[in-house]
Amino acid sequence: MTQTTNPIHESVREHYADYARSGSSCCGGSNLLYPDELLTNLPGDVANFSLGCGDPITVAALQPGETVLDLGSGGGLDCFLAAKRVGESGHVIGVDMTPEMLERARTAAVRMGITNVEFREGYLEKLPVKDASVDAVISNCVINLSPDKPQVFREVFRVLRSPDPASGRPGGRVAVSDIVTDGPLPEELQKNMEAWGACVAGALDVKEYTTGLADAGFTDVKVQPKGDASELIEAAGLKGKIFSATITARKPA
Ligand SMILES: C[S@@+](CC[C@H](N)C(=O)[O-])C[C@H]1O[C@@H](n2cnc3c(N)ncnc32)[C@H](O)[C@@H]1O
Repeated sequence: MTQTTNPIHESVREHYADYARSGSSCCGGSNLLYPDELLTNLPGDVANFSLGCGDPITVAALQPGETVLDLGSGGGLDCFLAAKRVGESGHVIGVDMTPEMLERARTAAVRMGITNVEFREGYLEKLPVKDASVDAVISNCVINLSPDKPQVFREVFRVLRSPDPASGRPGGRVAVSDIVTDGPLPEELQKNMEAWGACVAGALDVKEYTTGLADAGFTDVKVQPKGDASELIEAAGLKGKIFSATITARKPA
């Protein structure tokens, strides 16, 4: 992968390389983002290595045989959960720009003997994925980290399948958990690199998220706030201003 010289990419990559090396995660000892039954049978260090803000797996309602793309796959947890849902006839691709995260995810896949998942190095803004090849795009707390969200939305649209009128199969879908805001954040905060890495500074306003996806061509766009994002947000005095949200959309005919 050709690395960009975008300072946001560089700073975010360093931030997450540290997480990958240390093995520490946002959820501390146990992962409360998912229903217990999703996490059973996974080793503790995989189930609890989560830097997400929601549960895109339940939202995506994945079906056996589907092809799934996870944007910013990190340690691989959502990919492993998706792999179980789509089964041996399905396929899961995780994309991440941080080599240390990819290494962690690939090692875990080999250790667990999961063969219907692969991890590719790349950027959300230039996905290493073929046109119209994916049934569902999932992502967990990553799009807020991109310095060019309209480009991410265009790339997601490109890789999703179009509807197939002959079989009645609908177009590919988006099922994302992310951090969003109610109105603009203070300018100083938006420039703070530490706050970018912490999934705060780059968060999009709910309305911009909705229009951004619609501008890229999506239909049925919904951005549904789910709850306050974290203690960090309370500490920054931004309670009520930043939320985690569930974002869904579909590629139309
Ligand atoms: C907050 S972590 C979330 C990881 C994972 N989705 C989870 O729920 O644990 C963000 C991940 O996205 C990756 N990432 C951030 N911006 C990216 C970009 N523009 N392109 C590719 N990967 C990116 C980081 O390397 C990191 O692994």
